[in-house]
Amino acid sequence: MPGVEVTVEGLSKSFGRANIWSDVTLTLPPGEVSVLLGPSGTGKSVFLKSLIGLLKPEKGSIVIHDTDLVRCNESKLYELRKLFGVLFQDGALFGSMNLYDNIAFPLREHTKKSEAQIKDIVMEKMDMVGLKGDEYKLPGEISGGMRKRAGLARALVLDPEIILFDEPDSGLDPVRTAYLNQLILDLNAQTDSTFLIVTHDINTAQTVPDNIGMLYRKHLAMFGPREVLLTSDDPVVSQFLNGRRQGPIGMSEEKDTAQAQREMAEIDELSGLPPLKPQIEASKGMPERKAVARRQKRVRDMLHTLPPAAQEAIQRSFAEQEHAHGRAAVVGAAPYGRPDEAPTSEIPRVPDAPLGAPVDRGRHHQR
Ligand SMILES: Nc1ncnc2c1ncn2[C@@H]1O[C@H](COP(=O)(O)OP(=O)(O)O)[C@@H](O)[C@H]1O
Ligand SMILES: [Mg+2]
Repeated sequence: MPGVEVTVEGLSKSFGRANIWSDVTLTLPPGEVSVLLGPSGTGKSVFLKSLIGLLKPEKGSIVIHDTDLVRCNESKLYELRKLFGVLFQDGALFGSMNLYDNIAFPLREHTKKSEAQIKDIVMEKMDMVGLKGDEYKLPGEISGGMRKRAGLARALVLDPEIILFDEPDSGLDPVRTAYLNQLILDLNAQTDSTFLIVTHDINTAQTVPDNIGMLYRKHLAMFGPREVLLTSDDPVVSQFLNGRRQGPIGMSEEKDTAQAQREMAEIDELSGLPPLKPQIEASKGMPERKAVARRQKRVRDMLHTLPPAAQEAIQRSFAEQEHAHGRAAVVGAAPYGRPDEAPTSEIPRVPDAPLGAPVDRGRHHQR
């Protein structure tokens, strides 16, 4: 059973007279990985804090299990919060506690489990994020990547149905970012929980999530399946997701519309739609990520509503994926599955990767 659905409708948040964003409407599909992308300072962290009820938006609703957590009472909010696991930007670990105690903290705080039971859970989660053997280290003694993974282990101990990540990729070098992104997708394969990742990293947005949303100029520019956003002809979405210089988003201020349109037309003439970047897959040995088939079904159902160029690019990407998986293209059938034989490739060793959880980065590069 996939994780829970989160339905956000008409949400607006201001601090005093400063409006951060308005009228944000989106549904996090249960069990899928979604990314909220936006430049720094657009209110991504404020959005996450609103989702867990730490901040109160003045308008709109956030509905989980038929309860609006913007308006419910404290005890109901307390119950709903237990559904969430949150990885804060810096891991938010207690500096004076070792990793074991940090990770055990929510269990000691929120459950009546015995120390023996707690130990089992903590060791299991530490193993999951590749921190086995690091129980007695202090947060100050380890790398930023390890701190994030410790924060992640702590976010997982209560077996949350919704996991929120605040910029898991910030402050990490590309290798550790790749490792953490892989870990996130592997966790999703194992738990089928609902994930929301906030990031300003375009590469993460292109390769990790099932769904992408974009905060831009105090609004949600768009939210939908990756295939739809990555082929969108909306100038803002297209420029942002492709990291182009041409488009409506200027280096310092907004460009005028006429110039933006000229530039967009130029791009269309020059290149058409670039091929879709493949999504990172769960590592070999992990269960199939069920979110993929669910998302692709949604995309197929809405395909006819998309511009012809987008339809073509999406069909091509589905076909390539089927080909890569050695499956015949059957229209309407769920095309996703693990290949019977994974290609044998040199598995790169990551400096702080755990043993037994190698990064399987060879796969999604082959086309
Ligand atoms: N508790 C708060 N009180 C007042 N302003 C805040 C508060 N939290 C965040 N802000 C403001 O909201 C804006 C968005 O912040 P934030 O969500 O941290 O951006 P992002 O995470 O996208 O970089 C910023 O201008 C920030 O100063
Ligand atoms: Mg932030």
